[in-house]
Amino acid sequence: MKKYRDIVGDGGSHIAEQVQEQQGRLKARLAAVRRVVAIVSGKGGVGKSSLTANLAAAFARQGAAVGVLDADLNGPSIARMLGVRGMRLKITEAGVEPPRSAQGIRVMSMDLLLPSDETPVTWEAASQAEAHVWRGNMEANALREFLADTAWGPLDLLLLDLPPGTDRLSTVAGLVPSLSGTVLVTIPTEVSHLVVKKSVTVARATGAPILGLVENMAGLFEGSGGEALAAEFAIPFLGRVAFDPRLAAAADVGVPFVTEHADTPAGRALLEIADHLSAALSPLPGSSPPHPASPQWGEEKR
Ligand SMILES: Nc1ncnc2c1ncn2[C@@H]1O[C@H](COP(=O)(O)OP(=O)(O)OP(=O)(O)O)[C@@H](O)[C@H]1O
Ligand SMILES: [Mg+2]
Repeated sequence: MKKYRDIVGDGGSHIAEQVQEQQGRLKARLAAVRRVVAIVSGKGGVGKSSLTANLAAAFARQGAAVGVLDADLNGPSIARMLGVRGMRLKITEAGVEPPRSAQGIRVMSMDLLLPSDETPVTWEAASQAEAHVWRGNMEANALREFLADTAWGPLDLLLLDLPPGTDRLSTVAGLVPSLSGTVLVTIPTEVSHLVVKKSVTVARATGAPILGLVENMAGLFEGSGGEALAAEFAIPFLGRVAFDPRLAAAADVGVPFVTEHADTPAGRALLEIADHLSAALSPLPGSSPPHPASPQWGEEKR
C-alpha cells in the first residue's frame, strides 16, 4: 500500500478505497469466526502471550477450532510458544494459510514473515517525531492486512495476543467490530495494577464485554492480588496462575504447558480459566446464567 506522503492529493492511488476494500475482506473473513477475544494488559511481560498460548491449547483440548493472531509485530512470541516457528506460510487462492501447531492451533505472526531474528519492523519517516505519529497508523495497517488476508477457515475462537501498551487495544477494536470480549492480565504488584487499571478503562471503551481478569505469576511477589483489583472494577476474576518455572521452559520449547502439565496447580488453573471463558462465550441460546462449565464447541454452528 502506498504511503500517505506519496499520495497527498491522492495522485490516483485511491488509498481510501484500498482501505475500505481491505476492511470489507476482513469482515468477510471474520464472518467464519464465531468469537474473537483479545488478551490484554497495558503492562509488558506479565504473561499475555503465555496465557494466550495455553488458553488456545486448552480450548483445542475441548474440541474447539482455534486460531491465534500474534498482534505483537515487534515482539512476536506466539509462534515460538506454540512450536510453529520456522514453518512455512502457504499462499493459496483463498489467502495466506497459517501453519498449525501440534495441537491443531492455527497461528499467524510477524515471526513467520521476518527474515531474521534480529530485524525489527521499522517504519520509515523523515523525522523521529513523524515516525512516532505514523507507527500506530502503520501497525493498524499491518494488522488489518493480517486479518484480511489470513485464511483461517472456520474457527470457533480467534485469540488476539496484544503487545503491551494501553493504546493497542483501541487500535485492534477499531479493526475488529465484532470483538466478543477482552481478557485482562496482571501480576501481583502495584506497578502492574496501576497500568492494568488504565487497560480496564480502554477495554470498557471498546464496548466489548470484559470477560475477566487473570492473575499470573501468583506467589512470586508479595503484592496485592488480582482478585481485589477485579472486585474494585466489578469485573469477573477468572483465576490465579502460579509462578512455575516449567511454564517458561515449556514456552521456550514450543509445547503449551497445559499439554504436558495439565495436572499441576498452574495447569489446572489455566484449564479452569478456559472453562470459565468457554461458559461466558457460549451461553446456550435462550438460557440464562449460570452457563454450563464446558460448552460443546462447534455444535452451535455458524
Ligand atoms: N506463570 C508463569 N510462571 C513462570 N514463568 C512465566 C509465567 N507466565 C509467564 N512466564 C514467563 O515470563 C516471560 C514473559 O511472559 P510472556 O512473554 O507471556 O509475557 P507478555 O505479557 O506476553 O510479554 P510482552 O509484554 O513482552 O508481550 C516468558 O518467558 C514466560 O515464559
Ligand atoms: Mg507477549
